Amino acid sequence: MSKFFVAATLLGNLAIALPPPTARRDASLLPLSTKGRDIIDNNGDIFHFMSTNWPGHQETMIPEGLQHASIEDIVAWFPRFGLNSVRLTFAIEMIDDIFSNSPNQTLEKSVLNALGEKNGTIVLNQILERNPQLTKETTRLEVFDSVAKEFAKKNIIVHLDNHVSKAFWCCGENDGNGWFGEEYFDVKKWIRGWSYITKHVKNWPTFASAGLRNELRNANNAEPVDWYTWYVHMTSAANAVHEADPDALIFFSGLSYDTYIDPIPLGKMLNGTDETATEGKSVIFIPNNFPYKDKIVLEIHKYDFEATQDDCPTFKSKWYEKGFQALDASNPATKYLFPMVLSEWGFIHNGTYWSQTTYNKCLIEMVEDWQFSWQHWELSGSFYLQTRPNRTPNTIQGLEEFWGLLNYDWSTVRSPVTIENSLSKMITALKE
Ligand SMILES: *[C@@H]1O[C@H](CO)[C@@H](O)[C@H](O)[C@H]1NC(C)=O
Ligand SMILES: *[C@@H]1O[C@H](CO)[C@@H](O)[C@H](O)[C@H]1NC(C)=O
Ligand SMILES: *[C@@H]1O[C@H](CO)[C@@H](O)[C@H](O)[C@H]1NC(C)=O
Ligand SMILES: *[C@@H]1O[C@H](CO)[C@@H](O)[C@H](O)[C@H]1NC(C)=O
Repeated sequence: MSKFFVAATLLGNLAIALPPPTARRDASLLPLSTKGRDIIDNNGDIFHFMSTNWPGHQETMIPEGLQHASIEDIVAWFPRFGLNSVRLTFAIEMIDDIFSNSPNQTLEKSVLNALGEKNGTIVLNQILERNPQLTKETTRLEVFDSVAKEFAKKNIIVHLDNHVSKAFWCCGENDGNGWFGEEYFDVKKWIRGWSYITKHVKNWPTFASAGLRNELRNANNAEPVDWYTWYVHMTSAANAVHEADPDALIFFSGLSYDTYIDPIPLGKMLNGTDETATEGKSVIFIPNNFPYKDKIVLEIHKYDFEATQDDCPTFKSKWYEKGFQALDASNPATKYLFPMVLSEWGFIHNGTYWSQTTYNKCLIEMVEDWQFSWQHWELSGSFYLQTRPNRTPNTIQGLEEFWGLLNYDWSTVRSPVTIENSLSKMITALKE
């Protein structure tokens, strides 16, 4: 990719970074594959995902925000922000409902079941008014298809992420969605879901890649939480994706909310757990053993929950140990090189937070130093509904998302100064 010159330009009365007209963001780059530490496009040039997340995995199981803005208007934000791709999230429950032929798949039922008859009817009518190509009978998957069609029109590449099994806000410990075999995380349905949706989305013109599972984490009632179990199920799901679409990149996330994945590039033994079904078992993740060996990408998340004041050399060297060995051919401990994608990063867009800790500054430096793809969390200014187990109130309709790039009603940028100093600098940090 050629160098981005991000120009502060007036858009309405807001200064927003715009990409150059020459930025290549199109289907002709596909398929993507990997070569050592890099993702390369169809021309053999290095490709970096520069995305934001657009959630579609919550209770309604359709992408958020459609009561506030049309799909066309929402997608139009991507090139305007200088982004070349989206991380679009979905729930396996959506696919389970297809297999059970559930009547709940229509837009009408999806919204009314999530929001109740009264508020649901209001929101449904707003969605239909803003998006006349949809009807009450449009299914959730057809809503995703409409979204994908619009991304294709704008030459925005689509990365599909399986965020959860049961559709609600991710992620909490012991929330049922966190680890293989947990209450809602039925491994068979997950793999079936990947086979089904990959066959479907490979026809989206700008579909490029699949994120197998978001933020795997500890769970008390599930299969043993260990790297051996990770290996068994992640490689099965990867096979399912690869069989359905041999062109797709496949993202593998790490453990503990995807905060570390270093055992994979370091080629460590992936062990089972004593006194469980995986006791005494171990295996090594050897990329050459897989038919999708040139499609494997590692993903990692980084948030600022500790409100870091570490200086950047400290921040970067601590974080490096969590998996960036994958990018470092000069490290003798690195056994296998893989591309890394920072598939979630973000913080509150309130105009000041970006400079209150060293997180934002050091993240930009890390991208400058190591040249890796990233996917910001997130686009939404608000949600249809948010259910959070074990919290009061348990569900909130129309919850505002203060971390979103857009404002509450998805009509404008929430905090231009934050974007200028974070998202836009993450773009310019990528040289090629
Ligand atoms: C449809 O949704 C309703 C309300 O959530 C639920 O009670 C019902 O079991 C669902 N039906 C099917 C077939 O899943
Ligand atoms: C698995 O066990 C071996 C032998 O004890 C150890 O060297 C290795 O570091 C362990 N793997 C991980 C990922 O901890
Ligand atoms: C932004 O959020 C941070 C963290 O909650 C807080 O310290 C700061 O005061 C907020 N800034 C504004 C302008 O509200
Ligand atoms: C329905 O919408 C109204 C107005 O936005 C809100 O005050 C109310 O809490 C919503 N009902 C539920 C059950 O969340």
